[in-house]
Amino acid sequence: MDELREEALSALRDASDADAIERWRVEWLGRADGRVTSLLRSVREQPQEQRASFGANANALKQSLESALAARQEELRRVQLEALTTTSALDVTLPGRPQELGRLHPVTQTLRDCIRAFEEMGFRVAEGPEVEWEKYNFDGVRIPQDHPARDMWDTIWVDKLVDGRRQMLLRTHTSPNQVRVMERMEPPIRVIVPGKCYRQEATDATHEWMLTQIEGLAVDEGIRMSDLKGVLYEFARKLFGADRKIIFHHSYFPFVEPGVEMALDCFICRGSDPSCATCHGTGWIEILGAGMVHPEIIDNAGYGSDRYTGFAFGIGIERVALLRWGIEDIRHFYANDLRFLSQF
Ligand code: PHE
Repeated sequence: MDELREEALSALRDASDADAIERWRVEWLGRADGRVTSLLRSVREQPQEQRASFGANANALKQSLESALAARQEELRRVQLEALTTTSALDVTLPGRPQELGRLHPVTQTLRDCIRAFEEMGFRVAEGPEVEWEKYNFDGVRIPQDHPARDMWDTIWVDKLVDGRRQMLLRTHTSPNQVRVMERMEPPIRVIVPGKCYRQEATDATHEWMLTQIEGLAVDEGIRMSDLKGVLYEFARKLFGADRKIIFHHSYFPFVEPGVEMALDCFICRGSDPSCATCHGTGWIEILGAGMVHPEIIDNAGYGSDRYTGFAFGIGIERVALLRWGIEDIRHFYANDLRFLSQF
């Protein structure tokens, strides 16, 4: 039996793959006529006085071969795994790659912060359509057909004729919602309308063909220009902190009278670089247009401009995001480059 054990173990050492090991198992331990199995069966053929020790020895042989088999299989598995990890690019022993957690786009983050700032001042959020009628985008806010002010918004029209001409467009600003909100509400009104707008314009460091705006509208008895300024100052303080400088210029928008633009000081050059790409050398970056709602629009809503006044503003959210993080080019936002986007 010792000889048998030696022979079996040496054959097992020579078996170098799963098939060879299986053949070895059948030869030695196979149930039908494996050599050790047959040996065990032959106990009865042994002379009476040797049976006990023969049986014990054969059993011990069987057990030692079984454990040698298990050890050989384990060893072979380890060798194969090692070969796999050293010879191929796939290292199956590495832990899986963790799923990267996404995050909100910087413009979305900024939009939400702006919305929160106005909500804290008592404004409610409303929404309006991105594909808009000409009559809301232009006529309703005092920009009739052929009015030169239409040139201020180079428009992307929807290629569909209604009554023989194009009347649908991608809204160029959120201001049509002044009219939409007044159509379905009664004063006192304090509403903001966030959303995307579209303009067919040449892109540069501060202009994109798609932009995000927040329209603000307040209509009530006794609303004054100082209320508008107070709200916008408070907004600027909440978003940029007390040390950011703010300036109001008078400006023209057909739907407000008087009209203003509010700008923040240029964070890149602080007004010292005449060739600054961000402020174009002016030292200021316009972030919003605003003004007192034109009395004609108040009257069109049926409120009566003798009794009610209001203010409106439109904020460019990408500009706000540029300013708060000191980003030098608005085009980064929509270039879809994770190296940029994952910084926020
Ligand atoms: N709608 C204007 C624009 O997009 C901004 C604006 C809104 C100006 C409300 C005045 C009042 O440029």
